[in-house]
Amino acid sequence: KMANGICDDLLSTILIGIRCPVIMAPAMDYEMYESPVVQRNISILKDFKVVFSGPAAGSLASGASGQGRMSEPEEILSFIRASLEKSDDLKGQVILVTAGPTREALDPVRYISNSSSGKMGYAIADSARRRGARVILISGPTSLTPPAGVECVSVITAEEMLNAVMNNLSESTIVVMAAAVSDFRPSDVQETKIKKSEGITLKLIKTQDILEEISQKKGNQFIIGFAAETGDLVNKAKDKLNSKHLDMIVGNDVSLPGAGFDCDTNIVTIIDKCGEIIEYPVMSKNMVAEKIFDYTLEKLKKRLP
Ligand code: CTP
Repeated sequence: KMANGICDDLLSTILIGIRCPVIMAPAMDYEMYESPVVQRNISILKDFKVVFSGPAAGSLASGASGQGRMSEPEEILSFIRASLEKSDDLKGQVILVTAGPTREALDPVRYISNSSSGKMGYAIADSARRRGARVILISGPTSLTPPAGVECVSVITAEEMLNAVMNNLSESTIVVMAAAVSDFRPSDVQETKIKKSEGITLKLIKTQDILEEISQKKGNQFIIGFAAETGDLVNKAKDKLNSKHLDMIVGNDVSLPGAGFDCDTNIVTIIDKCGEIIEYPVMSKNMVAEKIFDYTLEKLKKRLP
């Protein structure tokens, strides 16, 4: 009703007339949640700045299992707190966020890429915008709509993402590299479609590491990286934090159910450069974004003279 301007009862009439933040915590069977019309209406409401807490994945009232459970009350409360207390705590910051995969062409119709959906990066951009920052979102190819009020630069390849990041680095105060950048690209891109009768052997070369490039060019920016791992998360994430000269890293084990690519939740561990480690339970990607900025602000306060 809200997405379509229908106000035929008290609640829908109130929702259309108010100007305060609105948080939705929907619950329904997973098949209903996945239906295109529900997804379309959610997307319309997000454009109207309605914030969604959940739905979470798990067992449902119908006995089925899937995404449709109402968020835990603690999570809904955190969203309410976030919208009441910190609507402006990132004001003055210019936050550069990368999101999604990159694609590296083999020929005019084929490419290599990865399974990143972009949901984590878009949630980060959305949170930063709602908390008052100017946000520059550099996005690889995704099916997502950029959050309202965010400046979006669309890129395809790792090289394009590198250039877009470098072009916007000097005016940024915080950089969040949530993108799953392709580590390799084909050494040659064929101009015409490779015919299957010819067979194919791929020769791949490494792409440039954007975070390493940032570390050489950066000024006083606070740099946050991600680490997508499968096992031994803390040690592997620490190695990346050090080798990429980051202020903080958000690690996730993408092999765990409820974490990683193409789902709405994540299970993250934040590690900062002083060695502090915080492990979080499974949370919506929106809530992970809030936690990342809560933690970043704490660290930035300590940085000030
Ligand atoms: N990253 C980057 N440039 C690349 C590859 C990755 O800036 N060419 C960034 C990612 O955005 C992420 C961090 O580096 O913030 C770690 O990415 P991840 O894929 O976990 O690790 P890699 O450095 O690619 O190493 P590996 O794939 O061997 O784990």
